Amino acid sequence: MFYDPVESTFYAWCVERLLTSSSAAPYLRDGVVELGAGSGLPIVEALRRCEVPVQVRGFERDPESFRMASRLVALKAPPGYSVEPGDFFDQGLDGPERVAIANPPYLAAPTGDTSAPELWGGESGAEVTRRLLSGPFDVLMLMMASIADPLGVIDHAACSGYLVADWCARPIPFGRHSREPVVHRRLRELHAEGRAFSSEAGYLLAGVTLLRAGRRGRLTSVGRESGPDGFAPDANTLDPNADVLRGVMAAGASVRRGP
Ligand SMILES: C[S@@+](CC[C@H](N)C(=O)[O-])C[C@H]1O[C@@H](n2cnc3c(N)ncnc32)[C@H](O)[C@@H]1O
Repeated sequence: MFYDPVESTFYAWCVERLLTSSSAAPYLRDGVVELGAGSGLPIVEALRRCEVPVQVRGFERDPESFRMASRLVALKAPPGYSVEPGDFFDQGLDGPERVAIANPPYLAAPTGDTSAPELWGGESGAEVTRRLLSGPFDVLMLMMASIADPLGVIDHAACSGYLVADWCARPIPFGRHSREPVVHRRLRELHAEGRAFSSEAGYLLAGVTLLRAGRRGRLTSVGRESGPDGFAPDANTLDPNADVLRGVMAAGASVRRGP
């Protein structure tokens, strides 16, 4: 079961920031789905602190994590939070929710045969993130790691019609799982390909809010489709936030002296 005091607390803080953001408010009315509740603690804490009446349905496919999260939710009874067992992509896509959140698995390795298969993000580390970006959601708040093809992920988001509405980043030290030889070897390869950025101490994790208007948007007076807050991306829309985020995620490479 994954719970990391630094990372999970940062995720909780990013969720809290989303739940209290005025631009996300119109989308939050239909609730939020979460890929990967883990211990359940991040959302319990975020909801307790922000006191916003939002329904959050968490999905957790790792049985041990699900047991832990269900126990915690039963104990703390946070209003609006429930956790369901199973795969998010089987169960979380067809509900009324327009907002999805996740600290998705992002460890890169050739196969999921690692010490923590629930944290495996495919051969680039970004496969679960990319699946979320190809989903139906108008708003995503995703944790993006600088060691999991961040530039490819930001490009994928743009191609899926998302603009970067908000982001914040913090350093994360390499831990037991990211130091595992099979993961570390893959990170060296990704680093050489310009798809992973880190220093000797660690990497960057960003909580990124992405907003997509259009499919469920409405026509404005100038005839373009727009979301509830007037957000109206199209294929040629410039996204200065995404450009800055690209630079920040890649910055770790300049101080790297070798894996
Ligand atoms: C990095 S952990 C994050 C846990 C927690 N959100 C946190 O930040 O502390 C990722 C979690 O996602 C779960 N997970 C991965 N893919 C999933 C899927 N398709 N459906 C449901 N849960 C998934 C894993 O089992 C793991 O618990």
